[in-house]
Amino acid sequence: MNNSQFDEIVERRGTNCAKWDTFDVLLGGEKDLIHVGCADMDFKAPEPILKEFHRLADHGVFGYSDIFDDFYSAIERFYRHHHNVAIKHEHMVFCPRINIGCGLVAEAFTRPYEEVLIHSPSYGPLRQAIEENGRKLVEVPLRYDGVEYSLNIADLEQAVTKRTKMLILVNPHNPTTRVFTKTELEQIAQFCLDHDLILFADEIHSDLLAKDVTFTSVLELDEKYQKNIILASSPAKTFNIPGLVGSFMIISNDKLRARVADEISRIGEHNPNVFFNAALIAAYTKCDDYIASLRCYLDDNEAYLRKEFATLFPKSHIIKRDGSYLLWIDLSQCFTSEEQIREFFVTKARVGIYFGSQFSKDCSLFIRFNMAAPRKVLEEVMSRLNKVKQSS
Ligand SMILES: Cc1ncc(COP(=O)(O)O)c(C=O)c1O
Repeated sequence: MNNSQFDEIVERRGTNCAKWDTFDVLLGGEKDLIHVGCADMDFKAPEPILKEFHRLADHGVFGYSDIFDDFYSAIERFYRHHHNVAIKHEHMVFCPRINIGCGLVAEAFTRPYEEVLIHSPSYGPLRQAIEENGRKLVEVPLRYDGVEYSLNIADLEQAVTKRTKMLILVNPHNPTTRVFTKTELEQIAQFCLDHDLILFADEIHSDLLAKDVTFTSVLELDEKYQKNIILASSPAKTFNIPGLVGSFMIISNDKLRARVADEISRIGEHNPNVFFNAALIAAYTKCDDYIASLRCYLDDNEAYLRKEFATLFPKSHIIKRDGSYLLWIDLSQCFTSEEQIREFFVTKARVGIYFGSQFSKDCSLFIRFNMAAPRKVLEEVMSRLNKVKQSS
């Protein structure tokens, strides 16, 4: 895929689309908003995936599917190629969604009064997966010094109790986009070993790294840490196929894996739908060029937005982006309340962003901005914001 394909503006309204149709309704019911909140991309999926879908559609039969060796081999190939990790086929487990997987893991390994740690700010549906399964979520803030976020093991040590049974680690982190270093990951994994916690590591954003950022998967950590690790990931973000509803977990501990497989079976799930099956195989075997081009496009979008925001709001601070296509923007020196932010962005500029309070009550003066959109769309966003600024 070349850049001109990322430049293509695809009308998504009227397709039962969460980002455009649902958020039109949630933000007032009118259709003049530009949405840069919800975390999927406005780009078409890569050509090899679309080709597979055409092939399936022409075939015309959408019966029950199953997982065969090509599914596992594709994941294995992708991890070897992109992360330099060797994964055994028998360690992989299909799961419909990571959010579902997180809830199932909590159900399997914790009891109702027990605690699950998560760094805050945090991605809401993972919090929900814990709380709506009746477990106690304990938020451990990442440290923020006004410039960057950092992780301190002492904060986890302080939060852990005898009732703590699981830790959710999102890496690259949503919404801050931080990629944790190998040393930090080892500290976290050691902390989980010391306290006998399941380490549920969500690496869904790990393929779309910013320029010069390197990523270490928890699967690359020493063997001794693996006994507590459940890795969850999927091609959904990278190839813009979250609507296909599929993910996988990699679990090398046989006992843990068997227990997770039982939970997945308990909810009546055992195989991906035909489209996810084909998409994953194409994504993980034929789309390396797409990732490379997309990363460049996102880097360019980021450079553009940074320049624009620096002029629009000289006192805003866009946190360094390590991974994902999200920008986490500190507007605390520009606005004094979320209401003001809402009025500026949504009511006046007609730009739908995610509010920081969706990720933490302490972040009400932040926004999360999804820049996975054609440049022209971002230009229109910035033009609207600039007009509001000039008229105020
Ligand atoms: C960190 C993280 N995990 C999981 C998901 C969703 O994954 P799934 O659709 O497989 O539940 C998202 C989507 O935004 C995410 O940001």
